[in-house]
Formats: sequence, C-alpha cells, structure tokens
Amino acid sequence: MSGTPDRLAILTEGWRRRVGAAVDHLRADGFAGRVGLILGSGLGNFVDAIEDAHAVEYGDIPGYATTTVAEHSGRLVRGTAGGVPVVVMQGRLHPYEGLPLDELLLPTAVLGGLGIEAAVITNAAGGLNRLYTPGDLMVIRDQIDMHLDDPLRGLLAEPFAAPPGAPGAEGAAAVLAEIGRSGGLPDLYDVKLAGSLVAAGGRAGVPVHTGTYASMPGPAYEAKAEIGMLRRIGCDAVGMSTAPETVLLRRLGVRTVGLSCITNPARETGQPQLSHQDVVEVGAMVRDRVAKLLLAFLESFSGGS
Ligand code: HPA
Repeated sequence: MSGTPDRLAILTEGWRRRVGAAVDHLRADGFAGRVGLILGSGLGNFVDAIEDAHAVEYGDIPGYATTTVAEHSGRLVRGTAGGVPVVVMQGRLHPYEGLPLDELLLPTAVLGGLGIEAAVITNAAGGLNRLYTPGDLMVIRDQIDMHLDDPLRGLLAEPFAAPPGAPGAEGAAAVLAEIGRSGGLPDLYDVKLAGSLVAAGGRAGVPVHTGTYASMPGPAYEAKAEIGMLRRIGCDAVGMSTAPETVLLRRLGVRTVGLSCITNPARETGQPQLSHQDVVEVGAMVRDRVAKLLLAFLESFSGGS
C-alpha cells in the first residue's frame, strides 16, 4: 500500500486496507495536499475559490457511502487555495444518517491518509452562548462529544498506542509519561492554528468568537432541557458533526482547527421549529465571509504558520 503508511499503521488490518484502497485510488488521480478542509451545511461554496480544481464524486471513490442530506453534494475536490495545496470534502456524512460511526469516518481517515498536515473542520451550529447571533462565527477551542460512542472504537490496531508524532511514540508508556510531564493530554484542537484562524479573521475583517462546541447525535434538534444542560456544562455552540472527525484526525497525527457558523440561537424557551433549510439559508448568508476567512487563514499557512 502506498500513501502515508505510518499514519494508517495505527488502524486495524481491515480498516487499513479499506482506507488504503481509497487513498491509492485518489493518489493515482493526483490527490494530495497540505491542508484538508471539511465543509459544513451551507458552506460548500468555498470550492469556488479553489484554483485548478479537480473534483470526484464520493460515489466514484472505493468504499465511500454517499450523503443523503440536502445541500451536501458529496464531492472531494483538490486544487490550490490561498497558495496552499488543499483537499476539500464538500459534504460529509453524519451519524444521524444511520451509518455506524466507523463507516461514516472513512472519508475522514482517507483525508488523513492523503498526507495532509492540518485540517480545517467546519460546521453549522446553534448558538448556546447568549452573546452569539445567527451569522456569527466561532473558532472551536475545545469540544464535548455527546455521541457517547468513542469514534475510535474498533478502528485502532493498538487502542492505547501513542499517536504518530507524539514524543517517543512507543505505546502507552510514552503517553503516560507525556501526561505526567505536561499535566494533561495534548490539545485536541491545535492552539497555534486556532490563533492563526482568529488572526486571519482580524486581517480579513471577519470577527470570530472562540468557544466550546458540543456535538450531539441528531437528527432531532435539542430539547429545551438539553440546551440548558449544554449551557451549564460550558458549551457555546451545538451541532451534529465535527467531534468524531477531530478525534480521528488528531489521532492520525493531523493538526486540527474547527470553525462553527452559528445559524440559529438554541433557546431554552420558545424556540420556533428549526428546519434544516433554515440552517442552510443562514449558511448561505455567511458563506462569503467564511470563504474570505478561510483564504486568509490558508495564506498565513502557506507563509509557514
Ligand atoms: N442544534 C444542533 N445542530 C445544529 C443546530 C442546532 O441548533 N443548528 C445548526 N446545526
């Protein structure tokens, strides 16, 4: 198998083969990049900013399931944006579409297997923080994964081995030594990249918040009591994606940064019925600002951030 064998070596034999087959297929079609982007609901138009773009439908990639959600067109696009070679997932699978977590994470594993250094994971989210209004953007500082199903379950050959690139990546002992040294696990969301995204917002005239993202399984939007709970445990935004992808990419040794587009306030009382169409419409309203922000971020990445 070609690709990035060191990365995929952490997967079980079966997953290594499945992910490797897709990686090999895509590499033969010229897919490679320094930064991977996953575009959330309503944000897919970022692909218009990609130069020398080449796209394949998910259905034409070995092992990929296709998306069922409106506005998720389901294509993988490569090219250059902000001077950086990128691979972009235009559309993603969600847990609420009924697939098991490991199955829907295959495209994310492939993104890692293509050798990207960093991933920008975007989503549409409800605002829990009372200061947020629809159209606001939030750089994700950290997450609380309410799927209560570890996305890595069944994927890893050695579940407690240190991730690639970890200091002295020699298994559980190295991880424990690192925890002892630093007082905690390495950051899930890369602090430096999050800082670059905030700074890019400043340069591009696109202000952003920073906050904690709660990932719920969906497809039902949250009950009022759940919104109250998420607020009380410190979450600023709530959506139905991102957390499992981030855990997997981080484990594969990819630096990760997350961006939520606030499409609606999550209200404990009197929330009007929210539809997926509402979410997509606000996404469409802010997508030009998101594209500007992402380009400014990529420009700084090409400058060595
Ligand atoms: N809850 C969960 N997911 C979402 C929301 C929400 O309020 N808005 C957009 N995605």
